Amino acid sequence: MTQTRIIKVDPLNPAEDSIRIAADTLRAGGLAIIPTETVYGIAANALDEKAMQRLSEIKKRPEGKPFTLHIADKEKVEEFAAQVPVSAYKLLERFWPGPLTLVLKSKTALGTVGLRMPDNEVALEVIGLAGIPVACPSANLSGKPAPANFSEAIRDLEGLVDLALDAGDTKVGVESTVVDLTLTPLRVLREGAIRKEEIEKAAGRKCILFICTGNSCRSVMAKALLEKKLKDAHRQDVEVLSAGTMMLGGLGATEPTRELLAQDGIDVSGHVSKRATAGMVKKSDLILVMEKIHEERILELVPEAKNRVFLLKEFAKIEDTENLDIEDPIGRGADFYAETFEIIKEAIGRLVKSI
Ligand code: TXA
Ligand code: MG
Repeated sequence: MTQTRIIKVDPLNPAEDSIRIAADTLRAGGLAIIPTETVYGIAANALDEKAMQRLSEIKKRPEGKPFTLHIADKEKVEEFAAQVPVSAYKLLERFWPGPLTLVLKSKTALGTVGLRMPDNEVALEVIGLAGIPVACPSANLSGKPAPANFSEAIRDLEGLVDLALDAGDTKVGVESTVVDLTLTPLRVLREGAIRKEEIEKAAGRKCILFICTGNSCRSVMAKALLEKKLKDAHRQDVEVLSAGTMMLGGLGATEPTRELLAQDGIDVSGHVSKRATAGMVKKSDLILVMEKIHEERILELVPEAKNRVFLLKEFAKIEDTENLDIEDPIGRGADFYAETFEIIKEAIGRLVKSI
């Protein structure tokens, strides 16, 4: 038997000391019960063979049943998984942090790896500070129900683990949904807190991203026009995003943009400009840019997006000019603005037929 140290923690604002003790325990090869938003888990250093052996023994885990790695940061996916499909980014952008485990092709070993980013401050801080891959199966003996609160978790495990963080009840109380994305179509291996239909809908939704420089004129027009067309066609299977390549955020659409769209009955007064992020690009099936320079910027951000980035004019097969760029109308006068708007409108009219 082991002496299990029990520490009470504030689930929303855990004391630094408790987090450090838990992280140190894991780094030293120990086992620690930690809360997540779904159920309590037993955390261990996944790279420490002895710790993993002990974890399997105390849980009486059937041999060969894989452990999910828990991460504190979406970007860590690429540290553990290879050839991550667009559908994985759609799901993790929508559900992480949260009750979803993604099974992907492993980057570090043969076969697959299960990954999850829990939505729990204590878990995220412990995992982040430990700085090691953390395996974290539910804190129950094999075959028993997963524990939704601390007393259920500690009941069968006191004396078997080194540390236990008591944060009271878990928020969700049900295990995560496990989705295998190495298969096409995807397979839901365990239906937990997220329904199978919700997973299929989110993964199956197309995502189109429009890019310009400041996300205040061209990409705003393109997004708004496409959304209107989709709405008129009663289509809900496409998500449309817009963003800029420049470090500008939080601005509205320019006045001429608002006015031109208003003439078509579209209100973009609520638009707030955003800078393009790697996350947006990775979850998008199609990235449509206004100028060649935007394509370069996007590919600097996400080189793997190479076969998904197109010039809007080119993609819509608008061949009237030698110039495939749709130039920035900012500061170019009302006529130029109106012309730009018409070109984008024509492109969107063609685009909507092909998606
Ligand atoms: O909500 C949860 O997922 C909780 C909390 C603590 O995070 N954890 C949990 O872990 O339920 P566990 O080990 O009890 O269940 C994880 C499930 C198992 O059914 C396991 O087979 C599956 O995920 N899994 C993990 N990695 C996998 C992989 N590479 N391939 C197939 N299934 C995998
Ligand atoms: Mg379990």
